[in-house]
Amino acid sequence: MNFEEIKSDENNYLMHTYGRFNAALVSGKGAKAVDVNGKEYIDFTSGIGVNSLGYCDDGWVKAVTEQAGKIQHMSNLYYSPVQIETAKKLCELSGADKVLFCNSGAEANECAIKIARKYSFDKYGDGRNKILTLVNSFHGRTVTTLAATGQEVFHNFFFPFTEGFVYAQANDTDDFKAHIDESVCAVLIELIQGEGGVVPLEPEFVKTVADVCAEKDILLMVDEVQTGVSRTGQFLCCQNYGIKPNVITLAKGLAGGLPIGACLCSKELANVFTPGTHGTTFGGNPIACAAALEVLNRVSTDEFLNEVRQKGKYIIEKLSTFPNVKKTRSAGMLIGILTEKDNAKEVAAKCVERGLLVLTAKNLIRLLPPLTITYEEIDKGLEILKSVMEE
Ligand SMILES: Cc1ncc(COP(=O)(O)O)c(C=O)c1O
Repeated sequence: MNFEEIKSDENNYLMHTYGRFNAALVSGKGAKAVDVNGKEYIDFTSGIGVNSLGYCDDGWVKAVTEQAGKIQHMSNLYYSPVQIETAKKLCELSGADKVLFCNSGAEANECAIKIARKYSFDKYGDGRNKILTLVNSFHGRTVTTLAATGQEVFHNFFFPFTEGFVYAQANDTDDFKAHIDESVCAVLIELIQGEGGVVPLEPEFVKTVADVCAEKDILLMVDEVQTGVSRTGQFLCCQNYGIKPNVITLAKGLAGGLPIGACLCSKELANVFTPGTHGTTFGGNPIACAAALEVLNRVSTDEFLNEVRQKGKYIIEKLSTFPNVKKTRSAGMLIGILTEKDNAKEVAAKCVERGLLVLTAKNLIRLLPPLTITYEEIDKGLEILKSVMEE
């Protein structure tokens, strides 16, 4: 099939939920993707923060294929050694007590919301079930996680949404406190609002949130779906802030390219779920877990984390010499670029034509390169980005 045929079939057979760029990707290695015409791209997107180790990393392929050759799936009615090993590693790296595996970021957040409500119900009874989230957040596309998402644009069409969410302004402690009352059982925040335009929370604000939560037995739940798994130069972004959330959600980069989500909880929440109160057919799938274990073993060493920070710094330094850069916001290799011309979408489309994949977030260009990207690949990609931004 040539590109035009692929595009036409997509139009005929897939629901139109995405505005796609003109590239049909068929293979890749490291930070290079190849399209159906054999054209190469430097990938600064990693599939929106998913391919942590890049395309078809040798160790990752070995882990996945070996597991596929042993056992590809069993139900959660049986013990899965690889699932248990992955959970153990996640607890070691995060300081969490227990893990629930699912298949996506939205599901991980659904799980967090259910834990919060059941914890509160078990301890305080009915009526203490509100969850505070932040304006401009993004937590997923299910009916409940859309309701959790603090952006009106997502609160359309699919009525009625799940009740019980209130929204406070990010980085505004007065507004945050004004929304806290006896009915709030949890706060769910992204420490850097990724989809919202790479907007970091201020440490002072986060400290206030953590203190208020601790004081009132309100659960502090951090959505690390985009920021977790070493993306920001620490294994978890909450380590940059020195906080210990009660719940952490992960997905995206966790299995390096296979669907997975994880909801991690602290000790006091370990027994909130009991058999039958939550579950998923595919959650903790052995192949996804084998992939995650490979990712976790690789991305969690001090040396690797230091490299993520160094590469992020290198990219930011180079960007500071580019024309048309108004501002950058970043943590590790989660990078947002505001252009003088406010033309992020146009830049992204032109980059594809010239062999570079970049993302946008609101009106920013967003870069989420694979964590293993080489300096040579960074230079090559940035050269293309510069040439586009110069115009
Ligand atoms: C912070 C955050 N939470 C949740 C999600 C939803 O994850 P998923 O698309 O895997 O359901 C995303 C996706 O972009 C995200 O960035």
